Amino acid sequence: MSRARIAPRGALSGEAKIPGDKSITQRAVLLGALAPGVTRIRGANPGEDTRAALGMIRQLGARVTATVKDGILIRGGELKESDRVLDARNSGTALRLATGLLAAQPFLSILTGDPSLRRRPVARVIEPLRVLGADLTARQGDRLPPIVVRGRPLQGAAIVTSVPSAQVKSAVLFAGIQAQGVTSVREPAATRDHTERMLPRFGVALDREGTAARVRGPAALHAAEIEVPGDFSAASFLLAAATIVKGSDIVLKGVGVNPTRTAFLDHLSRVGSGLERGNERVVSGEPVCDLRARAGKLRGARVVPDAAPRLIDELPLVAVLAAFADGKTVVHGAGELRVKESDRVATVAAGLRAIGVEVDEHEDGWTIHGKGGRVRGGTVDAAGDHRIAMAFMVAGLAAREGVTVLGAESARVSDPGFLNRLRSLFR
Ligand code: S3P
Repeated sequence: MSRARIAPRGALSGEAKIPGDKSITQRAVLLGALAPGVTRIRGANPGEDTRAALGMIRQLGARVTATVKDGILIRGGELKESDRVLDARNSGTALRLATGLLAAQPFLSILTGDPSLRRRPVARVIEPLRVLGADLTARQGDRLPPIVVRGRPLQGAAIVTSVPSAQVKSAVLFAGIQAQGVTSVREPAATRDHTERMLPRFGVALDREGTAARVRGPAALHAAEIEVPGDFSAASFLLAAATIVKGSDIVLKGVGVNPTRTAFLDHLSRVGSGLERGNERVVSGEPVCDLRARAGKLRGARVVPDAAPRLIDELPLVAVLAAFADGKTVVHGAGELRVKESDRVATVAAGLRAIGVEVDEHEDGWTIHGKGGRVRGGTVDAAGDHRIAMAFMVAGLAAREGVTVLGAESARVSDPGFLNRLRSLFR
């Protein structure tokens, strides 16, 4: 396990380019495997989760090549049964979306992941996929991976999901495009809509109405050219860093700002940070812009359950920022964090206490007693979770004694270049 020691070293300044979006990359990889022809993905996310997804589609017969000049090329179309278990490693997205994709393929697949992923719930995808006729079994009464998928013909159906989860919605759509007839999926609250934006690029007609999406199968997919915008969640760590380190002023280029992802920007403005957007454009159907962030004096806030789905991956960072605010921050509606790469409600609370911040842990969030500019610092265990590792590295930049993060290498899951990019922002 590697440790990183991050100590205050003055203001951040200058420009940085953000790695490609992980969610969009995973979708492009899996749809590229299903679509006949050669799909080209430029600016793909370079993390371990992408490698896991590429490994899975290779095992299923897709041909994958990658060069600096061309990006990732996937020759897809005919998938075949793998003679090995498919390993999604740390990626919940790869596991759950591939389950939907493989439910309609005429062969057996077994999907698993690393110890963290094998503790994460899969009933949420198994139940709706069964309504389409899928034959799926999983460990512990269909609750945990590995998952056994006996692929078979599916029938379209109207699905109402019980959890607001883009992974569940996308798994249903990946099955629905291969099923007979119309499949619709409605969710209790809007979640990231990258799948809805991407399917038409692969030739699939998709209708939307509020939080519902509808496809008609079997759809004739064709290969696509996908340029992946910068990952908003990866950018958020640097936005947070610039906000809490006095005198900072940075510009992040080419950041995806899909409105289903950007509640963290609203949160930053609400707690007192100055943000500016420029160079707005659309890339592969996704809104993109450059973001300027400057240091600000932060105040406490209330985060309400409604905000959670659009802020889901940034909630650990909201909590870390709250430590540097004047006043109390109360977060509720974050119960889904308990089933992420770690139990993020618990790992964030433990991390905050380890750096000298008082925090009350709730079932679905925290009350954080902000210390303004007087956070002590200390040693934090990332619990093998990339977002916990990066959130506390950011804290180290503004904590008096700095922060040592144990298991810092987990940042590789989504952003192997994180530390180098951070270093590049110091003069
Ligand atoms: C993702 C959806 C979210 C998010 C995850 C990526 C996706 O998970 O936390 O990092 O790519 O669809 P849930 O769907 O479980 O909320």
